[in-house]
Amino acid sequence: MQNRTHDILAARAVHEHLDLERYPLDQPGHCQPLIERCREELARLGLCSLPGFVRTASIAGAAEELLPLVRERSFFHSRRHNIYFTDTPPGIAADHPALALQETSSRTVCDDQIAWSFVHALYEWPPLRDFLARVMGKPRLHLMEDPLARVNVMGYREGEGLGWHFDRSEFTTTLLIQASQDGGHLEYRPDLAQDDLDGVAGLLEGRDAARRTHVQRAGTLTVFKGRNTAHCVTPVVGETDRLIAVFSYFDRPGVVFSAAERLGFYGRAA
Ligand SMILES: [Fe+2]
Repeated sequence: MQNRTHDILAARAVHEHLDLERYPLDQPGHCQPLIERCREELARLGLCSLPGFVRTASIAGAAEELLPLVRERSFFHSRRHNIYFTDTPPGIAADHPALALQETSSRTVCDDQIAWSFVHALYEWPPLRDFLARVMGKPRLHLMEDPLARVNVMGYREGEGLGWHFDRSEFTTTLLIQASQDGGHLEYRPDLAQDDLDGVAGLLEGRDAARRTHVQRAGTLTVFKGRNTAHCVTPVVGETDRLIAVFSYFDRPGVVFSAAERLGFYGRAA
């Protein structure tokens, strides 16, 4: 089944899987209204999204070809952490409610396992990079050069999710490949400074009215300002795995992880 799906996806060029009538990334001169809409959403909400960016049949095919890898060949990672991912944030009492422990568990498939896939081809598709650079206000974006980290497919099975955290990178670009039956939603809180301890405590204790939920369907491309936007993924409910691709672009060329970082993220260095 995987080979048949693979053949169908690979037989078409990347652009044939995308809704370029709605999102004309291949015609940069026609993208200005879309870019302005995305920039306004990023400024106001901390994220912008393109629902239906990948066509329904194509994203279903991508899910079908990637699911066996997520189920059988992924790196399972489970840990408890605080929102800052540090053991001892300077100047904060260990029992401060802003340091309440979070549960994270997920499965990761690395880029060297999916070099043949549609998702990898989309990551390398130059019009996407050019579009994202304009949305993010960068002169240009570069592919990451790390053979494991460039594109990751994250899988979440029933009960798995991401605890509240801030990202290390300024922007995160994702493509939802398969939504879970329930749960598996991105919850986030725009405009919360990392050092606003009372604000963080209020968020973690469920007292923050500015907390939002991003419900997306398969095929949605999302750009997320994760370094200044606290976020989590709620635990998946039901038997359908949540599958999401994470695309890593940088505003400088040649970015790779260290061997120690690869071991921590993927359980292997090469
Ligand atoms: Fe994140």
